[in-house]
This record gives sequence, C-alpha cells and structure tokens, in this order.
Amino acid sequence: MPVIGLQWGDEGKGKDVAIISSSLNENDVIVRFQGGNNAGHTIWYNGKCFVFHLIPSGAFGKAKMHLGGGMVIDPYSLKQETIEIPDFENEKHRISVSPHAVLTLPTHCLLDTISEKKLGDKKIGSTGRGIGPSYTDFVWRKALRVGDILDVNFKERYEALKTEHFRILKECYQYDPEVDNFTEKENKFLEGIDFLKTFEVKESNLLIQETFENGNNVVAEGAQGTLLDVRFGNYPYVTSSHTIAGGIAPALGVASQLVGGALGIFKAYVTKVGEGPFPTELGGEKSSVWCRDKKYTEEKEVYPNPNPNSEDLFEQGVALRRMGNEIGATTGRLRRTGWLDLPLLNYAVKINGVDKLSMTKLDVLSGFNEVKVCVKYKINGQETKNIPFDISRSEIEPVYQSFPIWKGKLSDYDGKLPEEAVKYIQFLEEEIGVPIIRVGTGPEEHHSVEKYW
Ligand code: GDP
Ligand code: IMO
Ligand code: MG
Repeated sequence: MPVIGLQWGDEGKGKDVAIISSSLNENDVIVRFQGGNNAGHTIWYNGKCFVFHLIPSGAFGKAKMHLGGGMVIDPYSLKQETIEIPDFENEKHRISVSPHAVLTLPTHCLLDTISEKKLGDKKIGSTGRGIGPSYTDFVWRKALRVGDILDVNFKERYEALKTEHFRILKECYQYDPEVDNFTEKENKFLEGIDFLKTFEVKESNLLIQETFENGNNVVAEGAQGTLLDVRFGNYPYVTSSHTIAGGIAPALGVASQLVGGALGIFKAYVTKVGEGPFPTELGGEKSSVWCRDKKYTEEKEVYPNPNPNSEDLFEQGVALRRMGNEIGATTGRLRRTGWLDLPLLNYAVKINGVDKLSMTKLDVLSGFNEVKVCVKYKINGQETKNIPFDISRSEIEPVYQSFPIWKGKLSDYDGKLPEEAVKYIQFLEEEIGVPIIRVGTGPEEHHSVEKYW
C-alpha cells in the first residue's frame, strides 16, 4: 500500500507509517521508494522524538525496512541516522538496500548549494542535500550506485566523477571546492561507504515479489509530497523525483497493478518549505519572504504570542506556525502556513489514486475562531476548481468557506471528536469523495482518532 503526502511534504507521513507498522509482522516490508535525506519524517516513541531521513518509519515495529531502487543515498547521513536508533546493531538485519539506489557524493551537495546561491531570488529553496545533482547524474548516466561499491574500480570511478564535478564547480560557478574543507567531507563519505557495505543489498523487485507471494504486506512510504513531484508538482519548485504513487512501479521494478490504492496523508491546513506558489498562504508574499529570511528565534522575538484571530492575516500565519510547531524537520527553516486548499487536494487525490485519507494536525486549529477551507479559485474573474498548468503564472484568488470551531482542545473530548469537527470532516469527505479513516489529534501515535462518528 502506498502512503503518499498530498501537499508540499511534512504532512505527517512518518507518524502514519509508524501507526501502520505497529500492526505489521517480521515478514512484512516497509519500503522508501524515492527521495533521499531531504526528507524528515518524525516519529514519537516512548515519549521521545525521532526524525528519520533515509530509513523507513518502521524502526520501532517488527517489519523489514528497505531502501528502494528509486532513492538517492548519502551514506554518511545514513550512518549518522542509525546512531539514533536504540539497539541498532540488533535491528540492522531488518534493513536492506537496493543496488540501484544512487549514491549522493559530497560534490553533489556542493553543486546543489552553490547552484542555488547563484540563482539568487530565483532559487528553488532546496534542502542542500545534493538531491537534484544526484538524480541529474543518474539520468545523465554518470551516477554511482549502491551496487557499485564492491566493484574493484569503485575508487577510480568515484575519483573520475569527483573530478568532473570539480571542473563544473570551478568553470561554471567559479567555486574552488578545496577551500571548503573538502577532504573532511570526503573522508566522511568514504566512512559512510564502508558502513553501507555492512548492509544486505537486495533487489527491490525480488524482495517485494517474494513478500507478496508469501501473502505478506508491503507499505511504500512516500517522501516529500505530490505538489513537489518533479512533473506533476509546481515545476520548477519541486524535488527531483516522482513523489506520486505512480512513481512506485518504475522506482522499485514492480508491476503497476501490484501498487494498489494509496493512503493519502494531508494536514488540516497547508505548509510549505522553500520557494514557489502557495495560493492559500496566510500573509501571502510577506509570509514567503519572511519564512525565507528569518530564523525561528527571530520570529519568536518579534511575535512572542501571535494571535490566531488577529486582523492581520500574516500574524494568523505566524500563530498557525507556532501552534503547529511548523519548523522544518530537516533544515530547521520556518514552514510557510495557510488554509486547506481543496482544488489542490482533489488534484493530488486523483493523481495518486487515493482511496483512503488520513488527516493530521486537526488539533492545531483549536485556537482559531473558525476553520477556513479554500473550496475553489477565482482566476481572471472566473470561478474554477481546476488547477492551471502553472499556478505561479496565474493570479489566483482563493474562495473560502468557513466552519464553526469546537470549544476547547480536541484532547478535552476523550478520544472522540466534537460535533463541529465531525461536520467539517464529513464536508471534506463529500467534497473529495474519499473516506477519511484517521484524524490526527497530536504528535504521538496514540493521538489519533480512527472512528470519529
Ligand atoms: P513527514 O515529513 O510527512 O513525515 O512530516 P514531518 O515529520 O516533517 O512533520 C509533521 C510534524 O507534525 C511532526 O512534527 C509530527 O510530530 C507532527 N504531527 C504529526 N501528526 C500530528 C497531529 O495529528 N497533531 C500534531 N499536533 N502534530 C502532528
Ligand atoms: P518530507 O519527506 C517538505 C522541498 C524543499 C524545496 C524543494 C526542493 O519530510 O515531506 P530538494 O532538496 O528536494 O531539492 O528541495 O522541495 N522539500 C521538502 N519539503 N518536506 C520534504 O520532505 C521535502 N523534501 C524536499 O524545501 O522547496
Ligand atoms: Mg518532513
């Protein structure tokens, strides 16, 4: 079953996968099929917070975990991440890696950050983790893959690719990598490669076929979100992989009919890190510039107690960020915030073949006087529920519908949802045409309601 983010990432996929993983057994598999350590998936376990970047969100369950063929892997980042996992040496046998996964080199990270710098105001807002250049080398047919690390010529091939990257950095970007402690970065990479050698290498397609043939389950954990898909997101403000459920088959080498209907994850509102259009952003342009330029500590100084019901929409956005703790799990950047956007959500549901939904973070809206949702757009005076080819080129005016808010906090309702919340959820189900099977009421796994009616 695919578990896919339906917005701009950070919908709470990690938490949902962790919930699902608690009912999986040791013959089931959780697989990441795309992306790299640009992802940050948060899980709470025994009151402690863990953020996973490359490892699927099943560390605290029993299922196998697989880093699939469509991923890009920074080996040192993988090593660092495993340090966080309690009793990792005893858990390691559950993890395998596809030989097709592409290696992220330290020069990929440099190319990513230096080329972004050069773009100035036109930057994408990349996480700087080398994702775009790693995938570029892959489709350029120059990449090194996990299956290459045992090759006797690996070091030679690494040196050749590094030299090519150095040439590009120097000639195209007038940047000398040597001045920036490159040897230290390279040593970490090589340490990561040695670490990677200690994992079982397994073809994703074989692992998955075997798992299905034995009647067991496969969960494909998406990273990023639909609106960051390299083709179907808001290009060029996207990541470099197919984040949608349709990306699973070519990433893992499984037949498309095996993929099945997706569980779509969405927040009760919307957030976005990085640049690009965001029709329902609270505070519009001011918010996007603020979140690009300010740090969390600076925002806290200016807005120690932001009012969610302020007349100023920008301040409402700050309050939503504070109440939802919307700080990037990978880069620590401020996440831009806004109301739920149904035209975009419906687009994402259809493109992924979503047949069930999980809505996270409903609890966060408790401080508002009303819940707002964008039900359609006005573009050039015309109302529409369709998404234009390039949303950054259209003047989109969101048309909102408001709903009464519940009294107090969701935690006051003893595992049930208040009538106002139920009505709002039922409205969403009708508008989307897909059932909402889970509603998030807090960050931990038990903070969720499965039967709200
Ligand atoms: P992912 O990238 O999709 O896995 O999401 P992130 O982990 O980047 O961001 C989601 C954030 O929301 C994390 O801090 C989660 O702990 C938190 N979270 C998830 N579900 C809920 C929820 O229902 N309520 C609240 N308050 N927090 C949640
Ligand atoms: P998870 O899996 C939110 C965004 C970046 C930037 C754009 C391109 O935690 O939901 P990249 O580094 O991929 O070249 O950046 O994509 N981005 C994410 N935003 N959550 C993520 O992952 C993201 N991964 C990348 O902020 O706008
Ligand atoms: Mg995240």
